[in-house]
Amino acid sequence: MNGRRMTDRGMTHREPDGTGMSGRDRGGGTPKDPSLRRSLALFRAFMREQEDPDACYALLARDAADQVEAYGGPVAGRVVVDVGGGSGHFTEEFRRRGADAFLFEPDVRELAEKPPEGTVLADGYLLPLRDGAADVTFSSNVLEHVADPQTFLSELARVTRPGGLVYVSFTNWLSPWGGHEWAPWHYLGAERARARYRRRTGRPAKHTLGENLFPVHIGTTLRQVRGRSDVRIVSARSRYWPFLTETVVKVPGLREFATWNLLLILRRCPE
Ligand SMILES: C[S@@+](CC[C@H](N)C(=O)[O-])C[C@H]1O[C@@H](n2cnc3c(N)ncnc32)[C@H](O)[C@@H]1O
Repeated sequence: MNGRRMTDRGMTHREPDGTGMSGRDRGGGTPKDPSLRRSLALFRAFMREQEDPDACYALLARDAADQVEAYGGPVAGRVVVDVGGGSGHFTEEFRRRGADAFLFEPDVRELAEKPPEGTVLADGYLLPLRDGAADVTFSSNVLEHVADPQTFLSELARVTRPGGLVYVSFTNWLSPWGGHEWAPWHYLGAERARARYRRRTGRPAKHTLGENLFPVHIGTTLRQVRGRSDVRIVSARSRYWPFLTETVVKVPGLREFATWNLLLILRRCPE
């Protein structure tokens, strides 16, 4: 991998770290998670995503790396595998923090002009990695784009070492953002929402339901993940929400609309 080394070091078990320190305190430059300030900063960045994608994804990457470190300890010296990492902003952020981080992305069109060194073109269903190669397996907003999320999760678990951390987040179908670029009109049906997007923008939508976007639900996903023997749930929470991040996920029905984006922090079994 271009001179970079896949190591197999142990990882501290801190869930979350209990220091009360945010990325900002640790020098990461992001507000405390959760907090209104942080959610507003992320929201503003999303709103400017088209104008300034680098600033948006750099902030998102710092924020996600803070979350990984809050649950798993510092990533410095750890092997981090970013599955479906697209432009590579997350991989770059993990590297900035001293991790041996690698981007695995199946779609060459999603890569940045200059992807991180050592990027591997690979499908998340079949990663070219040995069992337990990673200390942290990271997948941000990919699960809703795969037809078989449970097989995808199995592969993430396989490549994570026992005791290692799996970070998975996804936008669920009934989230106000569930229809992606055609949200919130997906509540009226995917076909109608796609057609409306085309009419309004003059461009075909990037996502088609059943092809590259799938209706993933929070309740079903939690039941399936709880039934697995290869991982246990450390936290199931809203990724971006400013308060009650775990509470909202406990309320059937409401959680499908109010969570926006589910973040699962999983520990690879056996520890
Ligand atoms: C919405 S983008 C998310 C990109 C990045 N992880 C982020 O959070 O900004 C979805 C990504 O999932 C990738 N993807 C889709 N199917 C995949 C699969 N089977 N295995 C791995 N990645 C996949 C896409 O190529 C795309 O880069």
